[in-house]
Amino acid sequence: IVVVLDFGGQYNQLITRRIRELSVYSELMPFQTTAEELKKLNLKGIVFSGGPNSVYAEGAPKVDPAIFDLGVPILGICYGMQLMAHHFDAKVERADVREYGKSMIEVQSDNVMFTDQPKSQQVWMSHSDKVMGVPAGFRVDATTTTCPVAAMSDVSRNLYAVQYHLEVNHSEHGQDQLKHFLYEVCKASGTWTSASFVEEAIEKIKGEVGDKKVLCALSGGVDSSVAAVLVHRAIGDNLTCMFVDHGLLRKNEAEQVMEMFAGEFKMNVIKIDARERFLSRLAGVSDPETKRKIIGEEFIRVFEEESAKLGHFDYLAQGTLYTDIIESGTATAATIKSHHNVGGLPEDMQFALIEPLNALFKDEVRAAGTELGIKEEIVWRQPFPGPGLAIRIIGDVTEDKLNILKDADYVVRDEIRRSGLDREIWQYFAVLPDIRSVGVMGDERTYAYTIAIRAVTSSDGMTADWARIPHDALERLSVRLVNEVKDVNRVVYDITSKPPATIEWE
Ligand code: XMP
Repeated sequence: IVVVLDFGGQYNQLITRRIRELSVYSELMPFQTTAEELKKLNLKGIVFSGGPNSVYAEGAPKVDPAIFDLGVPILGICYGMQLMAHHFDAKVERADVREYGKSMIEVQSDNVMFTDQPKSQQVWMSHSDKVMGVPAGFRVDATTTTCPVAAMSDVSRNLYAVQYHLEVNHSEHGQDQLKHFLYEVCKASGTWTSASFVEEAIEKIKGEVGDKKVLCALSGGVDSSVAAVLVHRAIGDNLTCMFVDHGLLRKNEAEQVMEMFAGEFKMNVIKIDARERFLSRLAGVSDPETKRKIIGEEFIRVFEEESAKLGHFDYLAQGTLYTDIIESGTATAATIKSHHNVGGLPEDMQFALIEPLNALFKDEVRAAGTELGIKEEIVWRQPFPGPGLAIRIIGDVTEDKLNILKDADYVVRDEIRRSGLDREIWQYFAVLPDIRSVGVMGDERTYAYTIAIRAVTSSDGMTADWARIPHDALERLSVRLVNEVKDVNRVVYDITSKPPATIEWE
């Protein structure tokens, strides 16, 4: 394993993912992780990530100094480089000009990181502090016009550092540099694949669970489906899946989920009809975070009550992804919104959790699902949030609004599929903003709802761009939405990317 120590940048997980793309297993761990804890792992290398702090600020995150004595190769990135420089007594200063975006570095070294690369290459910078001179034993590997130390190393101690973000695509040779660090410096073997992930995950679940009973929260989405099949492979009939119909699902979805898992896969699935229960708890609530918390909590309550009727369960399996965790706020990253299966968990929960996918991104989960032999139509389902349509209805949720949104969402999905755009668009759905406006239909005045279409391209949900849907497809969407959905007289298209917006509206 190569451990990435997390100093709080939003894109830190991208580093672990880039490492896994090079077939080396990697996980993000808190920066407080001690040398003692790291020693217990089969550790090949450590990466210090970027982060928002200044090394000399009060309370700035520091590493356990004993980590430098482990004899394991270390790569510092951005804040990670400043931290390394500061630790070895070099001068780190606030730069007059914040350097953000594309920049050219001049490589001045022949160390393995830069083998077979142009001397002058584009990188991506994002920093306001800079290292002014290298510590004793280090040398400068690259510079930019404004940055005297853009990369440095002490080859004899296997310490390497870069000021730029080699993990992003805009750093032209970043992935090569990472590869050289992993293969040449860390001597990693590069044998990790989604097949080995599946195998290891199954073994790990077997080892942890033994012959205890597991309950799985099945939603029919990609994540929980892959998690359920993975756990099923590990422990067979000791897994019971519970599918809660909270009434916030898409049109016909509940029937389809039952057909697929109980019917085709012959898995042990129990369906709970909790529609009224959720609706009544949501009545009159319009604050997004409150809605999310209510739904998350109610989910667990339903599980606890219903599972008690089935006997004792020790574990709850969930398809939580890495992105669900980072966006709900880690120790170092800010809270964006509480994903229902993270922030919404009540403190007195009675199950231990199994979350086999919690270090993965969506596309990695899809690869694992394919590896497990799950059908394409499930593996390629568009993501659907746990709180369902409730967070696509702005304001309070009522049965009437739910029905309007279900019909609108059905039209959006159907039309996008007919237009052949379903694979290239990451997510496409309807939102019901709390807006009614005046229209005219058949010589009559109308006062009805607006539907917003949201369609985005993305590879992992962390960042997204609005999809450039052709105008004629948008026109068909607009006509069908007004004609086929009762109480709708206006259609708008959301043209914001993430950031600054998020994919969902709440
Ligand atoms: P946002 O809206 O944060 O969404 O840009 C990023 C991705 O996550 C999905 N999403 C959720 N998934 N539980 C989930 O399982 C949730 O509470 C949740 N909220 C958002 C969203 O659909 C998008 O794919």
